[in-house]
Formats: sequence, structure tokens, C-alpha cells
Amino acid sequence: MQMSSSPTSSMEKRPEITIRPLCEEDLPSADRIMRLAFGTFLGLPDPLKFMGDADYVRTRWRADPSAAFGAEMSAELVGTNFATRWGSVGFFGPLTIRPDLWDRGIAKQLLRPTMDLFERWRIRHAGLFTFANSAKHVSLYQKFGFWPRFLTSVMELPVDSESPSVSTRWAQFSDLSVGDKQLCVQACRKLTDSIYEGLDVEREIRAVDQQRLGDTVLTWGGGELAGFAVCHAGPGTEAGSGNSYIKFGAVRSGPKAAQEFHRLLDAGREFARSRGAGKLAAGVNLARLDAYREMLKAGFRTTMQGVAMQRNADPGYNRPDVFLMDDWR
Ligand SMILES: CC(C)(COP(=O)(O)OP(=O)(O)OC[C@H]1O[C@@H](n2cnc3c(N)ncnc32)[C@H](O)[C@@H]1OP(=O)(O)O)[C@@H](O)C(=O)NCCC(=O)NCCS
Repeated sequence: MQMSSSPTSSMEKRPEITIRPLCEEDLPSADRIMRLAFGTFLGLPDPLKFMGDADYVRTRWRADPSAAFGAEMSAELVGTNFATRWGSVGFFGPLTIRPDLWDRGIAKQLLRPTMDLFERWRIRHAGLFTFANSAKHVSLYQKFGFWPRFLTSVMELPVDSESPSVSTRWAQFSDLSVGDKQLCVQACRKLTDSIYEGLDVEREIRAVDQQRLGDTVLTWGGGELAGFAVCHAGPGTEAGSGNSYIKFGAVRSGPKAAQEFHRLLDAGREFARSRGAGKLAAGVNLARLDAYREMLKAGFRTTMQGVAMQRNADPGYNRPDVFLMDDWR
């Protein structure tokens, strides 16, 4: 199915670009382009080694094939973009173009159907994570109404296999029955909805469960769900070998939020240890200042920082009282 097509406006005659849904057969090329593009941009000696054995392309495609777009030129895949819907919240990435074709408007063409998809999904809060130091990146996304807001820190906590385990009690989504999984997803939705109306990460919980990418760690308090963290672990996931990564984690807001957040971090570390991971990674938007401070207190250190760009500069759930981890990478 052809979704859009337009000739380039330059004087030079260039092949036409077609934007179309990404199919399963595209995944090896899509993965290659993603690594080559980031590896080249970051100046790696071997760009294709970007991210090692971690994966974004296959796991995101499997989570929702209808939200992945490809740019094709002369019957060859030359760029891709992936959109994610978390209920009323949407973000996109990784957006990557084959390096020899940069600055020819291909990313802009891929972004148009992505914006249409956000419209169809009725996304209220839309954003992306990008390189804060790149004028090109910031300017590209501004053309679509996204404005740079706060830094997002991607942080890491060393996980020592020797140290004694903590007393926090936690459960794993994968241990629940089918019926209890349904109830648990509802409880997670209720928790995230109390932070930002319509925020719902069922897609991530289900993707991790169905693709066996890790597990969702659950903490309870006062008879209800106090917090949860959707964790990836190991090769072929967003964590990579030897690592664990909290893709999304949050606790209920309120007077006990900081304490519950600390328990969730402990549970995340225990999960990482149970998977033999030496590190636990997690990202936080620095507008969530108290969450960032708690992570520093718990021993997390920033390994990389980028900027969150938000459509119409809408703050969404990036408030100081929100104890939530995500990084939109
Ligand atoms: C970032 C990336 C996706 C952009 O793709 P692209 O096809 O080169 O981008 P486009 O040509 O569609 O658009 C780039 C826009 O930025 C503008 N631009 C380039 N350099 C700029 C600068 N220094 N300041 C301001 N604008 C700049 C271009 O002029 C163009 O806009 P225009 O056509 O309206 O003039 C591509 O470079 C890439 O794959 N990079 C490596 C991976 C990556 O960083 N992905 C994004 C992660 S958030």
C-alpha cells in the first residue's frame, strides 16, 4: 500500500521516495539502517556495532506493526520510523535515514504519516527524545510543532551480584494467571491515569510478556498496586546482554510517592539481579525533579542525556511531583 509519495524539490533529479508500512521482510534492512545511521552520527569506528546486541526495530515492530513506517527509494528501504501509543500519549523513534541520503527531506516525509497516525490515535500529549546538542535535530522536529523542553537523563545503577537482597516484596507479571494479568493491566492503567489522564502502557506490558523481553515488576501497598516497572533484560531486547532496563516505571502520586518510588527501584534492582544483569538502566525527564533526585540518592548515575521535545510545549506528565521513569528513546 502506497501512503504518500512526492518528488524532491531540488534542481537535481532524484528518485522518488515512497512512504509505506514496514513489513516483516524489511526488518533486517531496517535494523541495519538504524545502527548505521546512529553509529555514523555518533562517529563510531564501526557504526554497525551501535547498541551491540540490543534491539529496537524487531521488538517495536512486533509490538505494533501498524505503527512502523518505511521510506523506499528505487525499491530499496532507505529509512524508517516507529510510533508508540501509550493511551493518550504518543511518541516516535527511532527515526533513521541511510546516511548517504541525509538532508534530502526523507525524514520530513516519514514524519508526515506519523503525525497523521497521532491524529487518528487522538494523542493528547506527543513527544520525542533527541540529541540536545544537534541544531539539525531540534530544527527538524520544530517544523512539526515539537519544542525542546527539559533534559532527559538516561541513568545506570551498577547491580552487584554479591550484595544482600533488599526486603522489598515484589511480584512479576509473568507469574500471574491470564485472568489476573487482565486485572493487573487494569490496575496499572488506573495508576497511570491518576498521573496523567489516559496514560496507558498496556502495549509495553503485553509486548514484554508476549515477546519474553523481561518482565513487569509489581509492588503493592495498602491492598492496591503501589507501583510497577516494565523491564527489559538481555540480548534482543532494549537492554542488551548483561543489562536490564526500565522502559517505563511509575508509582502512585501522593504523600508516600517518594518512599514507594524507592521500593520500586529496589524491586527493579532485584529483578535485574535475578536475570544476572550487571547494570540497571532507566531514564527520567528532569522536569520530574524529585524522581531524578531519588534516583541519584539510590546510586544511579547519568550515562547519557538528551532533550525531550513536546508538541506545543505541553508539559504532559512532566511535573515535579510525578515519580515516573521513561525516556522516549
Ligand atoms: C536525523 C535524521 C533522521 C534526519 O534525516 P534527514 O532525512 O537528513 O532529514 P531531512 O532532510 O528530512 O530534514 C532535515 C532538516 O533539518 C534542516 N537542518 C539541517 N541542518 C540544520 C542546522 N544545522 N540547523 C537547522 N536546520 C538544519 C534541513 O535543512 C532540513 O530542513 P529543510 O529541508 O526544511 O531545510 C538523520 O540525519 C539520521 O538518520 N540521523 C542519525 C540517527 C538519528 O539521529 N535519528 C534521530 C534521532 S532523534
